[in-house]
Amino acid sequence: MDADERIAELCATALEREGPVVFLTGAGISAESGVPTFRGAEGYWKIGSTNYQPEALATRVAFEQMPEEIWAWYLYRRGVCRAARPNAAHMALVSVEKVLGDRFLLVTQNVDGLHLRAGTTAARCYQIHGNIDFMRCEDEHPRVREVPTSISVDWPKARKLSEADRAALSCCGGGGWSRPHVLWFDESYDEELFRFESAMNAGARASMLVVIGTSGATTLPSHLVSIAAHRGIPLIVVGPDDSPFTRAAYGAPNGLVLKGTAGEWVPVLSRALGA
Ligand code: OAD
Repeated sequence: MDADERIAELCATALEREGPVVFLTGAGISAESGVPTFRGAEGYWKIGSTNYQPEALATRVAFEQMPEEIWAWYLYRRGVCRAARPNAAHMALVSVEKVLGDRFLLVTQNVDGLHLRAGTTAARCYQIHGNIDFMRCEDEHPRVREVPTSISVDWPKARKLSEADRAALSCCGGGGWSRPHVLWFDESYDEELFRFESAMNAGARASMLVVIGTSGATTLPSHLVSIAAHRGIPLIVVGPDDSPFTRAAYGAPNGLVLKGTAGEWVPVLSRALGA
């Protein structure tokens, strides 16, 4: 059986079952839009004379030690994300949502906002690691608000915060910093900000899980893939490289690995789902 036939078979199996068709995306789906992947070669950032890997900077500890530098890193990345446009894979998922309606669910690790800019409905798009266009204060029930428009989206690497930027990024009450609305490495998922329980519940009810462009390094996505493999639902993994997720799909009776890019495969999958 060739890949197209296997895709058709797995999609038909999923559509015969109850439950949402869940898509799980990572940085790889935005690679063809020009957003560097998280663990790719362009991920590091220089502060002073030190090169930092994202794992060291995307932490609450780093923010507490050097808030201005961490904000500058996020504002630079926000500029990269804003300059990018949704690609064929993002658009194919919008088409899938149109045919599946409430049976469509997208769980994304990406903070670039490209799924929403492509047209995916916010209620059906769980941004489990946040969104780089937003910020919040560290309150008990934080209000998430957009990074003020006064902050330039064109943010070169060496740019430092101005007095006006500092004021715009301060907390609603005036004291202290607001922070980027993202999940950091030394923090935990929750429902209120990151839809943890909702995503897990969707995984438990899913009729199929399609994983696109992720290296499998974070815990909630790993749970979703384990649940899918355990339940024996169709599990399709798209990407150019092997990962714990491709290994899970190779080992699952209803698993399928589609080696290649999101732009190649997601439109094929969307057509197989009737879009
Ligand atoms: P990574 O940078 O770890 O992995 C990107 C994946 O995309 C790799 O497996 C690549 O092989 C694959 N890839 C590259 N180009 C692709 C393409 N054109 N089409 C499809 N796949 C492609 O990024 P993530 O797995 O998303 O979280 O990283 C997960 C999380 O790690 C991030 O959200 C971030 C970090 O911890 C937080 O900051 C909380």
